[in-house]
Amino acid sequence: MAADAPSTVPVQLVEQPRLLKLKESFIAKFGSAPKFYVRAPGRVNLIGEHIDYCGYAVLPMAIEQDILIAVEPVKTEVVQLANINSSYLDFSTSVNNIQINKSKPQWHNYFLCGLKGIQVELAEICTKSERYIGTEGGGMDQSISFLAEEGTAKLIEFSPLRATDVRLPSGAAFVIANSCVEMNKAATSHYNIRVMECRLATKLLSKSKSLDWKKMLRLQDVQASLGVSLEEMLTIVEEVLHPEPYSTEEICKCLGISLEDLRSQILSQNTQNVSTFKLYQRAKHVYSEAARVLEFKKICSEAPDNAIQLLGELMNQSYISCKEMYECSCPELDRLVDICLQFGAIGSRLTGAGWGGCTVSMVPTDKLNTFLKNVKKAYYQNDGQRLALENNGLFATKPGRGALVFVEA
Ligand code: GLA
Repeated sequence: MAADAPSTVPVQLVEQPRLLKLKESFIAKFGSAPKFYVRAPGRVNLIGEHIDYCGYAVLPMAIEQDILIAVEPVKTEVVQLANINSSYLDFSTSVNNIQINKSKPQWHNYFLCGLKGIQVELAEICTKSERYIGTEGGGMDQSISFLAEEGTAKLIEFSPLRATDVRLPSGAAFVIANSCVEMNKAATSHYNIRVMECRLATKLLSKSKSLDWKKMLRLQDVQASLGVSLEEMLTIVEEVLHPEPYSTEEICKCLGISLEDLRSQILSQNTQNVSTFKLYQRAKHVYSEAARVLEFKKICSEAPDNAIQLLGELMNQSYISCKEMYECSCPELDRLVDICLQFGAIGSRLTGAGWGGCTVSMVPTDKLNTFLKNVKKAYYQNDGQRLALENNGLFATKPGRGALVFVEA
C-alpha cells in the first residue's frame, strides 16, 4: 500500500473536548476560528530498533494518543505559530525565508521543517523533512503515522515504502512507560553517530567483499548485493570486523581515503570530530534485529498457542541487543525494564531512539491492572518529578488510526 494523503473526517466539536479547547484557545490568540484541525498520532515501535536507516523493515503501531493542530489559512506570507503549552513561545516568520537554527532546537522548528520539506519535494516528504533538523532518521515514524490503521500494527518495509498488517495476539496489552529522561536527538550527536557507524560498517564490509563500496550506504545494501541471509551476514561481520573500536585513521586506511574525504563524503555535519567508531557491535545489532522483526511478524501470523511467550522473548532479546551492542539505553531505562519484567511483563524493551524516552512492555491482559499499580509504585511514586509525568507517562494502548484532518461538521 502506498502513502495516501491523510483522510478528512467531519466531527462535532461538542463531542471532542480537546478540539473544542483548541478552538477556544485559537480564537483567544488569533481572534478568528480555525478552518480545520490536523491529528498526528504518537507511535510505539514494537520491535526493530535502529534498523530503518539501514534499510530493514520495522514493526511499529500508531497509538490512540495524538498531537492536534488547529489551522487557519491566511493570505499573507507570514506563518504564525502558537502552542497551547505556554512554556513554548509564539513564533512567526515569512514563508519565503525559513531559517532553521540547528544549534538551538525549538518546538517551532519541527513545523518549519515540514514547510521547508513541502517547498523541496512532495514525495517522501516527511522523512526528508525531519532531516532538516539535523538527524539522519530512517522514516519509521513518518511511515507509520501515514500508513497506520486502527486495530493493527504494521510491518513497514522501505525502498519502496510498503506496509503490511501485523495482527497482535489477543490476551496481551502493550504498555508504554516514560523513563522521564529526555534525550534531545537534534541537540546531541548520539543518534547520528550510530547512523554513521552503520554507514562505515557498510563501507568496510562492502570493500572486503569487493563490492562498489562508494555507492553502498546501508547495511541492507550489502546483504542485497551479496544475496545472502541475515544469519550469513552475521557470520560475515564476525569474519570481517573486529570488536575493538575503529579509529578514523584505521577507517581511512581500510578504505584508502584521506581524513578530508571521510569527513566531506561520508560523515554528517555533527559527527565530523568523532574519533572512534564501533562497527562490529552496531552491525551485529542491525542484522540480528532485522531477523527478529521478521520472526515477530511470522509468530503473529502463525499465532501458535505460546505466541505471547515467543514474542516476549524476541522483545527481551531486542532490548539486550539495544543495550549491549547498540548502547542506546540508559540506567533509568534499564531500571524501568527490570521493574516491568518483575511485575509481570512477558517482554519489555526501550522503544524508539533510546538514551531516554519510553519502554514498551507486553503484559497479559488479566495482569494489566496490578501491573500498572505496581510499576507506578516502584518507578514513579517516590519521585515528585516522575510522579508529575506519570499521568501521561504510564498507560496501556492499542493500535490506533493514522494521521488525518478534522473539519467541523
Ligand atoms: C527514531 C527515528 C526512527 C528510528 C528510531 C530507532 O525514532 O526517528 O527513524 O531510527 O529512532 O529505531
